[in-house]
Amino acid sequence: MHPAKISVIGSGYAGLVNAVGFAHLENKVICVDIDQKKIDLINKGIPPIYEEGLEENLKDALKKGNIKATTDISRSVMETDITFIAVGTPSNDDGSIDLKYIKKVSEDLGNILKKKDRYHTITVKSTVVPGTTEDIVAKTIESVSGKKRGKDFGLAMSPEFLREGKAMDDFLKPDRVVIGEHDKKSGDILYALNKLLTDNIIRTDIKTAEMIKYTSNAFLATKISFTNEIGNICKKLEIDVYDVMKGVGMDFRISPYFLSAGCGFGGSCFPKDVKALIAKSKSIGYEPELLESVIKVNKSQPKMMIYLAKKHLENLKDKKITLLGLAFKPGTDDIREAPAIIIIEELLKVGAKITVYDPQAMGNIKAIFSDRITYAPTKKDAIAASDAIMIVTEWDEFRDEKLYSQKLVIDGRKTLNKRTTKNYEGICW
Ligand SMILES: NC(=O)c1ccc[n+]([C@@H]2O[C@H](COP(=O)([O-])OP(=O)(O)OC[C@H]3O[C@@H](n4cnc5c(N)ncnc54)[C@H](O)[C@@H]3O)[C@@H](O)[C@H]2O)c1
Repeated sequence: MHPAKISVIGSGYAGLVNAVGFAHLENKVICVDIDQKKIDLINKGIPPIYEEGLEENLKDALKKGNIKATTDISRSVMETDITFIAVGTPSNDDGSIDLKYIKKVSEDLGNILKKKDRYHTITVKSTVVPGTTEDIVAKTIESVSGKKRGKDFGLAMSPEFLREGKAMDDFLKPDRVVIGEHDKKSGDILYALNKLLTDNIIRTDIKTAEMIKYTSNAFLATKISFTNEIGNICKKLEIDVYDVMKGVGMDFRISPYFLSAGCGFGGSCFPKDVKALIAKSKSIGYEPELLESVIKVNKSQPKMMIYLAKKHLENLKDKKITLLGLAFKPGTDDIREAPAIIIIEELLKVGAKITVYDPQAMGNIKAIFSDRITYAPTKKDAIAASDAIMIVTEWDEFRDEKLYSQKLVIDGRKTLNKRTTKNYEGICW
C-alpha cells in the first residue's frame, strides 16, 4: 500500500497542499489541472499560490521524484490507484453550490474508468453539499463508465479542513480526518493513507462527512458574526470587546478561539459554504434564520470601517484613504470574499482616493480594481499618502505604531494597542 499512487484533480489551494503533503509522506503523486500555467509552475517547483512551507516541500518532493504535474487527467488516473477530486465548488448567484467543475470531472472519470480494468478509489475532497458525492459524482461515473461503485471502483468523501495561511501545517498535523465511505475497502485505503498523520480518524457514511464540513464552517462563521455583533454593541457602550471575550472564552464550553471581533470574515470557504448550506436548507423546505443572520452581520461589518472614517473626516469625497492589508487573512494572497473588496467598493462609491498595500495580495486585487485605485510599492509609501489608514488584514508588519506618525488609524483587526497609539479608532473597541 505504501507508497500509494495518488492523483489529485485540481491544483488550487486544497488540491496542491494535499498533493504536496501526500508526496512529502513519500507517496507518488500526480497533480492534475486544466490550467497549463499552474502545471508548468508546479513542475518548476514554484507553487502558484503562497503558503508557508509549500515551496520547500514541493521542491523537495520534485527532487525525490515523488510528485509531478500534468493536464493529462486520463494518464494520471490510469497510472494511479486513488484519485482525489479537489476542484472548486463556487457559489451560484443565489448562493447555491455551483457543481459544474465537479460534474465535468465526474464525466472525465467515467470515461477513463470505462477503460481501466483495475479497481480505483475515487475520493471527493472538494466541499460539496450532502448528497453530491453519491447522487452526482458516483451516478455520473456509473452511467458514463458502466461500472459499479463498491465493486469496480471505490467511493469516499473526505472533507478538507485546512486553514489558508497554515495549510501545510494543518495537512501534516490535522485535528482530525473525516472519512465518509461508501464501501469498507475505500475507507480502509483512506485510513491507511491518513493514519500517519493522526489517530483522530472518524469513519462515517458519505452524507455525514459532507455535512460535517458544512457544520464546522457554519459554526465557526457563526462564532465570528456573533462576536462582531457583541463588538458593535460594546463599541457603543465604550467597552473593549476583546476584554469581554477574554472573560467569555475561558469557559471551556465556549473556548477562546474564533472570538476575535473585526471587519468580518472572508475567504474561499466561510461565505461560500454558509450560503450553500442556506440554499440547500431552503431547497428542502427549511428556513435557516440563524445562518441568514450570520451572513447579514458579516456583509455589514466591513461598512463599519467607512462609518468610523466618516466620524472623523465627515465627507470622504477626495479624501486619501489607505488600506493596509487586502488578503482575507494574514499568511495568504487569497482575496476571495475579502472584506477589503467591500471596503474599497464602498470608498469608491463615496469618491475617496484609495491607496492600497499588502505584502502578498496586490496582484490579485489589481485584477479586480485595475486603475481605479493606487497600488503603493511599500507600506511606508501607502501611509505617507493618506488622510486615514484602515488596517484590514493583521499582517505582523503593520504592528509597529511608529509607522503611522500620528495619522488617523482605523483598525479593523486589533493590530495596534489603542492605549498607546495616537489618533486611533478600533472597529469594536
Ligand atoms: N481553499 C481552502 O483553504 C479550502 C479549504 C477546505 C476546503 N476547500 C474546498 O476545496 C475545493 C477546492 O478549493 P480551492 O480553494 O483549492 O479552489 P481553487 O479554485 O484554488 O482550485 C481549483 C482548481 O481546480 C482546477 N480545475 C477546475 N476544473 C478542473 C478540471 N476539470 N480538471 C482539473 N482541474 C480543474 C482549477 O483550474 C483550479 O486550479 C473547494 O470545494 C473548496 O471549498 C478549500
